[in-house]
Amino acid sequence: MRKPIIAGNWKMNKTPEEAAQLVKDLIPLVKDAKCDVVVCTPAVDFAAVKPVIEGTNIKLGAQNVHFKESGAYTGELSADMLKAAGCEYVIIGHSERRQYFGETDKTVNLRTIAAVKAGLKAIVCVGEMKDEREAGYTDMIVMYQTQMALHGLTAEELENVIVAYEPVWAIGTGLTATDEQANETIGVIRKAIAYKFGEEAAAKIRIQYGGSMKGSNVKGLMAQPEIDGGLIGGASLKAADFAQVVNF
Ligand code: PGA
Repeated sequence: MRKPIIAGNWKMNKTPEEAAQLVKDLIPLVKDAKCDVVVCTPAVDFAAVKPVIEGTNIKLGAQNVHFKESGAYTGELSADMLKAAGCEYVIIGHSERRQYFGETDKTVNLRTIAAVKAGLKAIVCVGEMKDEREAGYTDMIVMYQTQMALHGLTAEELENVIVAYEPVWAIGTGLTATDEQANETIGVIRKAIAYKFGEEAAAKIRIQYGGSMKGSNVKGLMAQPEIDGGLIGGASLKAADFAQVVNF
């Protein structure tokens, strides 16, 4: 049985003060959650959020990590820095990083390896663009991105990886993949993992759906057998909205 995991991706939102308030509001609303609950905040918010969630069921995550331990990489953060700041999770390869910041399958792979080796749990994002789906390439794209991202890891290390299937056309657009579309493509991702790491690892790994997931559609998505959780953008920015998703 795979334990569901719902993670908020706050993206470039919330000052430290706003962040602390949001998690304060969230704590009583999600304290009985049956799933793992994570908030991936901007790095400047870690210090404000960490003491507030201490001892609760809410875990802290980052939105990116560099693959080197230290050095001349202006603007980047290492896995050890994230851990020292209280992060247990980190999002890697989000489509916004791929689209706007030149992230490639190769750098996603390097970041994933660095995160897992350092003891972080990596939430690795894959997903097709609208024209790729329309052209019938969805399966090829997600299989390729998944296998590239996880290349070089062992089946044991995969226990610290969560894959997030996020069709790019569904992110922040209000468009959601249908329950069946999401389930089917996540099934394809699981097969890609089975080819590379074996059936057992594939059966164990948690694969989230992301892309306009919210209170009104979470039930249907989570009822699908392949879907093990969600990566939530817009609906993670208000405590009540995020709690609705968490308590699906
Ligand atoms: P959204 O974002 O829920 O606002 O579509 C999801 C994501 O980008 O992780």
